[in-house]
Amino acid sequence: HEIPDPASIDIVGLTGTKLGCAEGGCGACTVMISRFNPHKNRIVHHAVNACLAPVCSLHHSAVTTVEGIGSVATQVHPVQERIAKTHGSQCGFCTPGIVMSMYALLRNRPQPSKLDIEEAFQGNLCRCTGYRPILEGYKTFAVDGGCCGRKGKENDCCMNREGGSVSQLYDPSQFKPLDPTQEIIFPPELSVSKQENKKLQFKGERVVWIQPSCLTELLDLKAKYPEAKLVVGNTEVGIEMKFKNMLYPVILAPTVIPELTVVQHTRNGILFGAACTLTQLEEVLRSSIDDLLPYQTEVLHAILEQLRWFAGRQIRNVAAIGGNIMTASPISDLNPVFMAAGCKLTVISKGGKRVLQMDDQFFPRYRKTALKPDEILLSIEIPYTRKGQYFSAFKQSLRREDDIAIVTCGMNVIFEEETNTVSHLQLSYGGMAPTTILAKETCKMLIGRKWNENLLEEACSLLSKEMTLDPSAPGGSVTYRRTLTISLFFKFFLTVQHKLAGDLKEQVMRVLNQMLLSQAVPLGQNEEDVVGRPIMHLSALKQATGEAVYCDDIPHYKNELFLVLVTSTTAHGQILSIDSEEAMSSPGVVTFLTAKDIPGSNQTGPAVYDETVLADGMVTCVGHIVGAIVADTQAHAQRAAKSVKISYKELKPIITIQEAIECKSFYQPVRSIKKGNLEEGFKEADLILEGEIHIGGQEHFYLETNCSLAVPRGEDGEMELFVSTQSATKTQQLVAKVLGVPANRIVCRVKRMGGGFGGKECRSTLLSTVVALAAHKLKTPVRCMLDRDEDMLVTGGRHPFLGRYKVGFMKTGKVISLEVTYYCNTGNSMDLSLSILERALFHMENCYNIPHIHGTGYMCRTNLPSNTAFRGFGGPQGMMVAESWICDVAMACGIPAEEVRKLNLYEEGDLTPFNQRLEQFTIGRCWEECLALAKYHYRRTQIEQFNRQHRWKKRGISVIPTKFGISFTAIFLNQAGALVHIYTDGSVLLTHGGTEMGQGLHTKMVQVASRALGIPGSKIHITETSTNTVPNTSPTAASVSSDLNGMAVYNACQTLIQRLEPYRTKNPQGTWEDWVTAAYLDRVNLSANGFYKTPDLGYDFETNQGRPFNYFSYGAACSEVEIDCLTGDHKVTLNMLKLISHNSINQTFPIFSPKGAFMQGVGLFTLEELRYSPQGILLSRGPGMYKIPAFGDIPTDFKVSLLRDAPNEKAIFSSKAVGEPPLFLAASVFYAIKDAITAARAESGLNGPFRLDSPASAERIRVACEDRFIKMCPPPEAGTFRPWAVQV
Ligand SMILES: Cc1cc2nc3c(=O)[nH]c(=O)nc-3n(C[C@H](O)[C@H](O)[C@H](O)COP(=O)(O)OP(=O)(O)OC[C@H]3O[C@@H](n4cnc5c(N)ncnc54)[C@H](O)[C@@H]3O)c2cc1C
Ligand code: FES
Ligand code: FES
Repeated sequence: HEIPDPASIDIVGLTGTKLGCAEGGCGACTVMISRFNPHKNRIVHHAVNACLAPVCSLHHSAVTTVEGIGSVATQVHPVQERIAKTHGSQCGFCTPGIVMSMYALLRNRPQPSKLDIEEAFQGNLCRCTGYRPILEGYKTFAVDGGCCGRKGKENDCCMNREGGSVSQLYDPSQFKPLDPTQEIIFPPELSVSKQENKKLQFKGERVVWIQPSCLTELLDLKAKYPEAKLVVGNTEVGIEMKFKNMLYPVILAPTVIPELTVVQHTRNGILFGAACTLTQLEEVLRSSIDDLLPYQTEVLHAILEQLRWFAGRQIRNVAAIGGNIMTASPISDLNPVFMAAGCKLTVISKGGKRVLQMDDQFFPRYRKTALKPDEILLSIEIPYTRKGQYFSAFKQSLRREDDIAIVTCGMNVIFEEETNTVSHLQLSYGGMAPTTILAKETCKMLIGRKWNENLLEEACSLLSKEMTLDPSAPGGSVTYRRTLTISLFFKFFLTVQHKLAGDLKEQVMRVLNQMLLSQAVPLGQNEEDVVGRPIMHLSALKQATGEAVYCDDIPHYKNELFLVLVTSTTAHGQILSIDSEEAMSSPGVVTFLTAKDIPGSNQTGPAVYDETVLADGMVTCVGHIVGAIVADTQAHAQRAAKSVKISYKELKPIITIQEAIECKSFYQPVRSIKKGNLEEGFKEADLILEGEIHIGGQEHFYLETNCSLAVPRGEDGEMELFVSTQSATKTQQLVAKVLGVPANRIVCRVKRMGGGFGGKECRSTLLSTVVALAAHKLKTPVRCMLDRDEDMLVTGGRHPFLGRYKVGFMKTGKVISLEVTYYCNTGNSMDLSLSILERALFHMENCYNIPHIHGTGYMCRTNLPSNTAFRGFGGPQGMMVAESWICDVAMACGIPAEEVRKLNLYEEGDLTPFNQRLEQFTIGRCWEECLALAKYHYRRTQIEQFNRQHRWKKRGISVIPTKFGISFTAIFLNQAGALVHIYTDGSVLLTHGGTEMGQGLHTKMVQVASRALGIPGSKIHITETSTNTVPNTSPTAASVSSDLNGMAVYNACQTLIQRLEPYRTKNPQGTWEDWVTAAYLDRVNLSANGFYKTPDLGYDFETNQGRPFNYFSYGAACSEVEIDCLTGDHKVTLNMLKLISHNSINQTFPIFSPKGAFMQGVGLFTLEELRYSPQGILLSRGPGMYKIPAFGDIPTDFKVSLLRDAPNEKAIFSSKAVGEPPLFLAASVFYAIKDAITAARAESGLNGPFRLDSPASAERIRVACEDRFIKMCPPPEAGTFRPWAVQV
């Protein structure tokens, strides 16, 4: 047997299971594993991550993938049907994984609760939907949230309830019922587990996998191979082999050995075999708690609390307790609890057993334990607690769900009988040293002390001295981590105090509540006219069954080869030598490509050719593509790529905006927009203040990473490319350029993308040009799908921005004069940065009318991978700075921020700084309706009351308006084409210039054609986007693709309708097919192309005249949050979005698209942090370190409503773009947080404006609260140390 690489999930040619990260962090690869469990004497089903499940571990298991439960071709499973019909599948790349998480839950629990459903998705990510539609759809399976089945006919039917569980955008009564008796039968031969007692051995290319049948055999093997790794869940070893280049030639799998999987209740506690999984641990603890006396269960509760936030369900289903202990990670969640609780560990070797106490001696060094090489961990005994003993565990992470800890701890106190005098105290911390540690000194000093305020004061002071960190410590966040050790102790102190007083009653309830106010289709609209109706995404069912074909799902060609990029490890340097000798002699390697192999031009770039396809002499960022290895398999190519040695002459890099400003490292031109007279404005103003805000970058994190397949056609330099790109034409042009052939030889085809968000607008060509080059050189098809870490390293993201402002205003809050300067971190090439910077400037005043205004923008040239387009395209950064100065003005005047905002709002007919008149300007209405729907003023009073009553929890609220200009600011891009063929059977093939990335563009275009031609959408089909059908397309971007392509489609359809008109007139009773046949027989051309260009566009920066935008989209949002001042955590309790969108082409998109965009904005402004080292190395390169919002981050109350009667004459069927504008509305969460921090600061006597950079992460929130605990851990002085990460 061969052992495929752990991340190889395409094992039997099934492509439904997707690869999103290969590190267990996204859930796209979720499958269900079913096994006969001899202890339970039944079959158990588990959702697991295929990317971490070695094939050998699946012996005697049944694996069900998404293909196994249903298909469009046969029968769709209810789990697949519901996610599709409830609009929970947009790009669809996450969908199979989510389907399988739900399916596994239902197999175990056919009647789950809403909570079970939420919990099942802890390990799944989605970047498009904002999660709400998925939960909405799946709640219909819940016993406490399903459909009542009365089809809206009775008043109290779930469909008629306001804010009820079911929205009007789908009809749950049409869903297929779940019938557990119809599920696939577990193969009977796998139920007989006799073979399990046999030793198994699998030999691969580099690894031997042995599954011993009994303990003696295991110990013999361990004695023979002391270096062998025991592997249970492979969630640690898998990561080490994939990402840390580790190789373990012998692997021992102890999963069938009874002594390692046993659970025993002893006199003192519960003993778990080391190979028990975390899910098993959870189940046993839960049931034991019911049988024990409450005081005995303190530790058990604490472990359960830690497990609640430990990875996702898929990981907990396979990861073992022993694996967590033996990994000896300094941020293990369980080790601090086990250590503080004084658990006993039994270890064993051929020589015998030892029992060790879990204390700080157990972890002598980083990732080392006290076990000898031939010993293994047999079991752990978790003790019961006794009367007068209290125990808590805390974990602080960036994101609540499925995240590793920043600081994690277990805290244990025992009091002298019937007193509050401490007799034993054990505080154990993770995240504060290379190992899990005990705060020994602090604990020693507190023995014999009474549990009161004095003890608290002393404990805090002692901890601040004992729990120190080197300022350069890996992981950074030094002040925050130190403060957390104190804050978490403070939490423990309060908890124990409450318990001592016997009055702790805490109930955590999460109530999901959503109300969707959807617009209605006008009465009397023809049933066949699908415009304005909530039509399901056309590919949704195929996405849910795994049948939808993404780029990497295209079957492999004969002789196809795989490519892996070789990239620079230094940010700025001259290449001295490249040694590929070892790589070339690795198994399967065919070639190593360098710049010398380029037949055409090495110069590339979307706007200006200032980049190289392959570095030639110089590298200008870490991740700069230097070459590529091509081999017979991906694994071989990856292995060889790692052995290419490049030596550099290092040059000084520029990494941060600050460094670029100091060195005046800017790209040209410097842009500026100016209106009024700034100086006069400042003279007129009562007050002037200055401030700054930094807005961090953002990774696109499309679930499908970049992928390209190039197929040379053998003649005349022809090549066909299948690419996951938003820009087919750009790909065609740049590939032609590098190959030195005319564009007419290159065809670029795009079926669909698993998300793009701007990231595949032009950075996708980094890969497609290299893949094309390889295919050209080798004359054979070549493919590459980047791994997540490669994708994140190479492709750049949203531009970080620094905004500096000087604002003059009256005491009333009226802003008179504003000078603002933007600096964006552009990276090592221009890419689209000029347009992005321009858009930031076009949005510098957001919705506020400022008489004297002057904005300037600089593009900082740095040695980071080039930053690029991202939903909003600079607009969000531009407006974020505006909200910062408006917030400062409000604070300086002591007036509520919403009053200052309202006072400064534009009115109908006002001119923007770029002299565009605001017409049909409905922001005032939007604002008022948003305030009313959110009950803003009532909430404000409630918040003030809450804040008076709570010292360590504060609430805040904020309302933010937005105005977003719709059009590409590069005028020539505002054009689109379409091609429509009518075949003689009446079916229609539609092609247009836009690409499908989950936004439902193809669905909308079918709706447009359906109305224009007057035929049902079912007669119309779109196969793909390709450069040989519609040429010279603009990228699918800037929220204008429906507007532009919709008009082009309409134009083509109009031509055809005119051609068919005579036959319709001649035969008015005839059918569509009759007219088409008659026209064909009459030799009429039934193919037409359509074209559209947006009229009256054009802006000149020199004269500040002209119209940059066709129209504006408006909206307002209100958010309410609660922050935990001790940890910096926050939770959003309300989001109310009021958007303007009239007569949308498809009713579902203005409701669901904003939620996805909004959640992306929530990520941008509160969570997502790209961490770069001072040397420019991206440290956060996967879902493990880079956190996008998860299911648990959706607000408890999330409402979207559309403003009625807001006409838009400027777009197809009067629709309004809602793809990008709502992203910025998530700033309302940021400013609600700032509002809450303001309340916390007031407790420490701090008032007035303060700086808060974006994202408002837990760390920033905690530090900004500036209380006495923060003062105990002063930050190290800047310049005296080299930080682990820098703000770029
Ligand atoms: C996506 C993801 C999220 C995660 N989240 C968390 C988290 O929130 N908190 C956290 O603490 N950890 C987390 N982890 C880390 C990891 O899941 C845990 O440490 C897990 O418990 C490891 O168990 P395993 O069975 O998969 O270990 P494996 O990978 O199978 O083994 C890990 C190590 O333990 C050794 N080992 C295992 N059993 C024995 C034994 N009986 N005797 C001797 N050595 C043994 C192995 O040889 C190996 O060195 C996460 C990992 C991933 C991939
Ligand atoms: S691909 Fe397996 S979890 Fe992401
Ligand atoms: S639909 Fe979930 S990632 Fe696109």
